[in-house]
Amino acid sequence: MSIQKPKGTQDLLPGEIEKWQYIETKARELCQRFNFREIRTPMFEHTELFQRGVGETTDIVEKEMYTFLDKGDRSISLRPEGTAGVVRSYVENKLYGEPDVSKLYYIGPMFRYEQPQAGRYRQFHQFGIEAFGSVDPSLDAEVIALGYTFYKELGLKDVTVEINSVGNPAVRAVYREKIQEFFAPVKDKLCKDCQSRYDRNPMRILDCKVDQKYGEGAPTILEYLDEECRTHFQAVQEYLTAMEIPFRINPRLVRGLDYYTHTAFEYKAAGIGAIDTIGGGGRYNGLVGQIGGTDQPGVGFGLGMERILLVLQAQGVDIPAAKPLDVYLIGLGEAAERECVKLLQNLRLVGLSAEKDYLGRKIKAKMKSADRYNAAYVAILGDDELAKGEITLKTMATGEQETLALSELVQTLRERARQV
Ligand code: HAM
Repeated sequence: MSIQKPKGTQDLLPGEIEKWQYIETKARELCQRFNFREIRTPMFEHTELFQRGVGETTDIVEKEMYTFLDKGDRSISLRPEGTAGVVRSYVENKLYGEPDVSKLYYIGPMFRYEQPQAGRYRQFHQFGIEAFGSVDPSLDAEVIALGYTFYKELGLKDVTVEINSVGNPAVRAVYREKIQEFFAPVKDKLCKDCQSRYDRNPMRILDCKVDQKYGEGAPTILEYLDEECRTHFQAVQEYLTAMEIPFRINPRLVRGLDYYTHTAFEYKAAGIGAIDTIGGGGRYNGLVGQIGGTDQPGVGFGLGMERILLVLQAQGVDIPAAKPLDVYLIGLGEAAERECVKLLQNLRLVGLSAEKDYLGRKIKAKMKSADRYNAAYVAILGDDELAKGEITLKTMATGEQETLALSELVQTLRERARQV
């Protein structure tokens, strides 16, 4: 039997990959406008990083990591998300020594051992940003704005932004007790996962689909925010309003990662079956210290690329497909074929996309290939034309044919491409 791809992974093939390139280019271009710079960190890290960073009691670390011992008996994990690795790199490379705020972005694959479904994969891709070194709430708002602008400029419709404050550790300690008190009478009725969450991570019960009915009327963390948290949350909202970013406060928003403080947010859009979250993030003021650096605040997001493509498709939004070929060369006869090899190289050197036949096929089959590549021009060279120093050029859109001096082909096509 032939070997197939692992469950929950995808091959991104020509035809589809152009959409990815388009989205990635948009992400890079937007990051440049917002003054974020790219960082690339390893796809695997020491397991301990994620245990310390993402949190021992999160589903991600407890159940979803691809963890293995390498040949040196080190416990290694494929990264399930991007933040921990970027924080590790920020600390290791002492980026906090830079005088300014560090604004970083990344695009790449992440790995989680989850049950695959529409919009959920075991290898998926995130576009993420992380900004370190400032507690200014305008930075939270800027991060939220970047993600929102990204979706908007890609043409996604009806994206909503939900925000919450998850407080600081002191606030959370109080809230944790309140949540435990609230769920105590129904503790035995909760699902198995939530029974264990009750002691270790009770806020996560609010996020459980199975136990939703028991969560109704639960106290919200917003009721317990202290002055500092309230002021920060208020300021984030004011900045978002000033930037004309629409948002909704969702006091029940809890994220699946432990590192958040103050702002937590998610972007939602319909179109992928049961899943409606297309991206999320928040502030994480204690994480850098936890990973071992001098304590520096941070804020960022991760947006799922697959989910963006699924929503675009569901909404019928067209994004640019493969670029057509500028010119397809057809040589008829041995000498002409040889000349085409040279012409092809010269066309490519001046910046045009050019192709020829490599299978020794007849002219009809070659014309078909030109069509398949959506070529703007086909240049046909026969041995006798070659002897006369001429070449036939066909404009595919109109079917018009003309004869050019062979020596002028490259220049002529170059000029025409410039005029488009
Ligand atoms: P997250 O909410 O775990 O956050 O993931 C962010 C986004 O990644 C999700 O909203 C979703 O679009 C996508 N995603 C997650 N899991 C899968 C999956 N199995 N298949 C397809 N897409 C998926 C984080 O990862 C944080 N690191 C975000 C962050 C950055 N917070 C601060 N900075």
